[in-house]
Amino acid sequence: MIFNVKNNFINGVVMIYVVGGIKGGSGKTTVATNLAVKLSLLGKDVLLVDADDQETATDFSAWRNERTEGKAGYTSVQLTGKAARDELTRLANKYEEVVIDTGGRDTTSQRAALSVADIYLVPFNPRSFDVWTVEKVARLIEEIQTINPTLKTYAFLNRADPRGSDNDDAAEALREEEAFKYLDTPLVNRKAFSNASAQGMGVMELQPQDKKATTEFSTLFDTISNVGNNVENNVISDITFKG
Ligand SMILES: Nc1ncnc2c1ncn2[C@@H]1O[C@H](COP(=O)(O)OP(=O)(O)O)[C@@H](O)[C@H]1O
Ligand SMILES: [Mg+2]
Repeated sequence: MIFNVKNNFINGVVMIYVVGGIKGGSGKTTVATNLAVKLSLLGKDVLLVDADDQETATDFSAWRNERTEGKAGYTSVQLTGKAARDELTRLANKYEEVVIDTGGRDTTSQRAALSVADIYLVPFNPRSFDVWTVEKVARLIEEIQTINPTLKTYAFLNRADPRGSDNDDAAEALREEEAFKYLDTPLVNRKAFSNASAQGMGVMELQPQDKKATTEFSTLFDTISNVGNNVENNVISDITFKG
């Protein structure tokens, strides 16, 4: 019997990712839906939870189901507000991987999700970057870690410029923050990401394939899943970061 209990509610087998932050438009839904698609393509039993009342992830999944005649590859549910935690704990144990997309604010449902999560992923857009948001996220993490001390927290750039000083300034500020680890695996601002989303696809499924976008997402994914495996095996060790 596996008894690597991560908390009182959820067993140690399921891996729970929360894609969040406190800003709209940073790419949460893009990352969450790509993550759900990627995990399902790897044959995992995946639940995508839409905890944002804007329902963008739900719309994506509905569209994906329609286009694939019900073969989206993962299960999608909506959970918001206070019910989120109870529902989540009930549902999560039935899956191998749970990906939770949250809204662009510090909501009850984001906190509920974080209280049971393994990994918190926070995308930041270097063009609309502000240090205030970073500080808010850092304080949120510190609060949550008092009830979920094993939560691993990661920040990265999304919609990054192919090159430029905006990236560097944002990366610098993220690197300095101790509440999370900065992953130097940015997703660049590429039409492939929005085109894929508009078609209910992960960027890796888009035809013709955008190699750069696909590689960026898989590099981010590999980095995150390395972290995930370490959590699953209860090995507390750091992975190597580029840059
Ligand atoms: N890396 C990217 N390149 C291009 N467009 C992106 C990228 N990431 C997100 N977008 C687009 O930016 C908009 C906001 O992204 P979204 O994932 O919905 O943000 P959030 O869920 O944080 O509000 C969407 O139109 C999405 O298609
Ligand atoms: Mg969203």
